[in-house]
Amino acid sequence: MTGGPVVLAIETSCDETAVAVLRAPGELLAGEVASQIELHNRFGGVVPEVASRNHLLAVRPLIERALHEAGVGLGEIGALAATAGPGLATSLMIGFSAAKGLAVGLRKPFFAINHLEGHLLSPFLGVAVEACVALVVSGGHTMLVEVLGAGDYRLLGQTRDDAAGEAFDKVAKLLRLPYPGGPEIDRRARAGDAARFALPRSMMDSGDGAFSFSGLKTAVRYLLPKVDLEDPQAVADLCASFQEAAVDVLVAKTLDAARRCGRKLVTVSGGVSCNSRLRERFREACGAGGLELRMAEPGLCTDNAAMIAFVAAGRLERGEASPLTAEISPNLPLGQAL
Ligand code: KG4
Ligand code: ZN
Repeated sequence: MTGGPVVLAIETSCDETAVAVLRAPGELLAGEVASQIELHNRFGGVVPEVASRNHLLAVRPLIERALHEAGVGLGEIGALAATAGPGLATSLMIGFSAAKGLAVGLRKPFFAINHLEGHLLSPFLGVAVEACVALVVSGGHTMLVEVLGAGDYRLLGQTRDDAAGEAFDKVAKLLRLPYPGGPEIDRRARAGDAARFALPRSMMDSGDGAFSFSGLKTAVRYLLPKVDLEDPQAVADLCASFQEAAVDVLVAKTLDAARRCGRKLVTVSGGVSCNSRLRERFREACGAGGLELRMAEPGLCTDNAAMIAFVAAGRLERGEASPLTAEISPNLPLGQAL
């Protein structure tokens, strides 16, 4: 990969402050993430006002650290990018204003990037985007998308209620496990028996891309009186049973969608794609079904700015840019460019 322009991107859609420096089209020079997990753990979830104030404190030192790590001076930056949405308004506006301010000061193009497109294309960071069926599975979203090319997406379906990551986090809370619950359930489930508790696989055979996870969460709630939460084995078994039910649906529906669309490549992205069982099951199922599989490395599955820089680099290459009048858009749908 040779010397394209350098993109500096900022991501502050939720509770991670992230800055990345990427040389177009896809050479990551630095990727910094300052997590606020410790801070929000006390409250059992993200408190928007706390998140916003901490983005404000973290963003400038993080920009400096990322530039230092990349060995790049401000004068060498060719474009600025930031997440425009979807996300928490008070969090989005911190990174968005910082990137826009730098773009104005440096007189460089600015890119307002869709967070979902960042996740969607993250498995391709460093390589060319190819047509595929993509599962985006995070704390805020669960969707199946047919990718026809960079910037050309067809939504096949999404969750009707909770996102998969939200279900992991809520079930963890029911089991009195720390926030965020997804990684904790993943860890506990390794020692558990996934066959111990029978749990529903909602909409598994609905023949479309829609999902529903709230019934699964409620089924776990109904099991609680029968489970001793002081017994680590019982908790591990419940974690494994819940995780297997969620993974069963995600794998089956994604492969089903790939068959329906006639695509040979499947991608999986978003925070839940860190899940070790999900990764294992996707590898097995794609291998058995003769499908190629691409997943981002775990560090690029959860929120990061590298994926935002990568989308911006693609748009820069296509000669696009966002107007400086672009604003944050907390409910921005996939496919909408700013
Ligand atoms: O993509 P992400 O960082 O933020 C959103 O855009 O939502 O995803 C965060 C979600 C959380 O719900 C978290 O519990 C989940 O990803 N997650 C996991 C794992 N690691 C993160 N869920 C299951 N297993 C994991 N190992
Ligand atoms: Zn995300």
